[in-house]
Amino acid sequence: MSKYLVDESNSEESTNFGQKIDNTQSLKAGNRGPTLMEDFAFREKMLHFDHERIPERVVHARGVGAHGYFETYEDWSNLTCAKFLTTPGKKTPVFVRFSTVLGFRGSPDTVRDVRGFATRFYTEEGNFDLVGNVIAPFFVHDAIKFPDVIHAGKPEPNREVPQAGTAHDTAYDFFAEFPETIHTVLWALSGRGIPTNFRQVEGFGVHTYRLITEEGKAIFVKFLWKPKQGLCNQVWDEAQKIAGKDIDFHRKDLYTAIDRGDYPEWEFGVQIIEEKDEFAFDFDLLDPTKLVPESLVPFKPLGKMTLNRNVENYFSETEQVTFCVGHIVRGIGFTDDSLLQGRLMSYFDTQINRMGSANYMQLPINQPLTAVRNNQRDGSMQSKIFKGEVAYYPNALQNNSPAKPAKPYIDYPQQVNGRKVRDEVPSVKDHYSQAQLFYNSLTDPEKQQLIDGARFEIGKCKLEVRERMVVIFNHVDNSLARRVATALGVSPPDRVADNPGKSSKGLSMVEYPKPDHI
Ligand code: HEM
Repeated sequence: MSKYLVDESNSEESTNFGQKIDNTQSLKAGNRGPTLMEDFAFREKMLHFDHERIPERVVHARGVGAHGYFETYEDWSNLTCAKFLTTPGKKTPVFVRFSTVLGFRGSPDTVRDVRGFATRFYTEEGNFDLVGNVIAPFFVHDAIKFPDVIHAGKPEPNREVPQAGTAHDTAYDFFAEFPETIHTVLWALSGRGIPTNFRQVEGFGVHTYRLITEEGKAIFVKFLWKPKQGLCNQVWDEAQKIAGKDIDFHRKDLYTAIDRGDYPEWEFGVQIIEEKDEFAFDFDLLDPTKLVPESLVPFKPLGKMTLNRNVENYFSETEQVTFCVGHIVRGIGFTDDSLLQGRLMSYFDTQINRMGSANYMQLPINQPLTAVRNNQRDGSMQSKIFKGEVAYYPNALQNNSPAKPAKPYIDYPQQVNGRKVRDEVPSVKDHYSQAQLFYNSLTDPEKQQLIDGARFEIGKCKLEVRERMVVIFNHVDNSLARRVATALGVSPPDRVADNPGKSSKGLSMVEYPKPDHI
């Protein structure tokens, strides 16, 4: 039995403070009389009901979660000192939550959207949360643009339509204005935007991270999940019909697969880039709107994850889990990717709002397996009873075992030195080469699927938005632009437009000026 299940051995109903009670009837003055103020049982039951809702996540509100474990293939101490990766066969409990980004908590599963793939590893050194997506690149490279891309994709503020991933003027207006989004837009318009189920999706950490060994050697890595079930997606017409008939299609699929013992598995691995190769590519390794092609850097499997246990209570587990990119363990490190840097601040902040307390980490689903010890105290919903008279360090008074600095997390001693600037970053200006790479990687039916998606989505937009999107498509590929233009009823462009990010500089990334700190 899970450590936080309600004790069901006692079937007698009670109030929250333990009085045995029959709360099927309220206390009245006579059978037909008014309910009495003194009815503490009625009051407690109703007040608790009145407070059942908490704010849904500002993004990724709709999700489904499951428990499982991760098993390391080998001792990877040559790559990292993270203990969950250094003992062959070691099993680490995990909790995964899959989600759509834009829809509300009650929105349909099979809408076109990016999907979240968030994994918590309950390691012996604390929680490691890999908060990823099922699409490899991201729309924007600077976190300060995140609220814009989300506001553009969410229902319009005046009428709150359209909902749940259906395209509209604001989304494509923003994409046309901000062409660094086009790589991710193409992924989302392809089958990647409507998976058949969550068991058949890839997962991507998106950012470049670091792995760090005990000796302090660091490498850059991209984290990836490869489904053992293969990849599969729906065609748009199918997805729409399912959305109309069964909005819970994806969550039911995951629950029922696990219930019947058909446990989904993913291989977890990395693409490894040596520090010396940071500038070896014709894109910026720290730009999350780009991926590292596996043709350049192969996928190296490190272990396997199996999801084998459904949640027992949706709210206590799936809704109250608080993933955060800042939940990291020794041996894994961040990089200067500015989207990642922004995320490091946003999650904790929103979760204090969402959970209504700064002590949400004490909830069972959020607790690490390791003992937690520090000098933080008090706060709403504090459930720990700290003993002793002092909550600070250093101190000479403390007579219980003191909370004192431990063998620390390794902050990679990267040199940082630069002028404060609020400028465009030259090395992320090539918005089209990888979009082109993605489009060219599709088979003919997949290209048609993408064009059908574009017709359905952008076809609902105003004429000027449709025209501006065709201009953007034409920077990627002329035949793509022509086919989409025909589908959208706008004039097809004659010849492909250039790639201003490349041609204005005339440089490949290796020739770009190095940042100040190098
Ligand atoms: C959830 C912010 C980019 C993946 C969230 C939440 C916020 C947020 C506020 C809600 C968290 C909660 O209430 O528990 C941001 C910001 C970003 C960003 C500010 C960029 C600056 C990304 C990227 C990815 C991603 C690039 C994928 C690599 C997710 C996932 C969730 C999430 C999977 C849902 C976690 C869950 O299942 O509980 N994000 N996000 N986000 N974000 Fe982001």
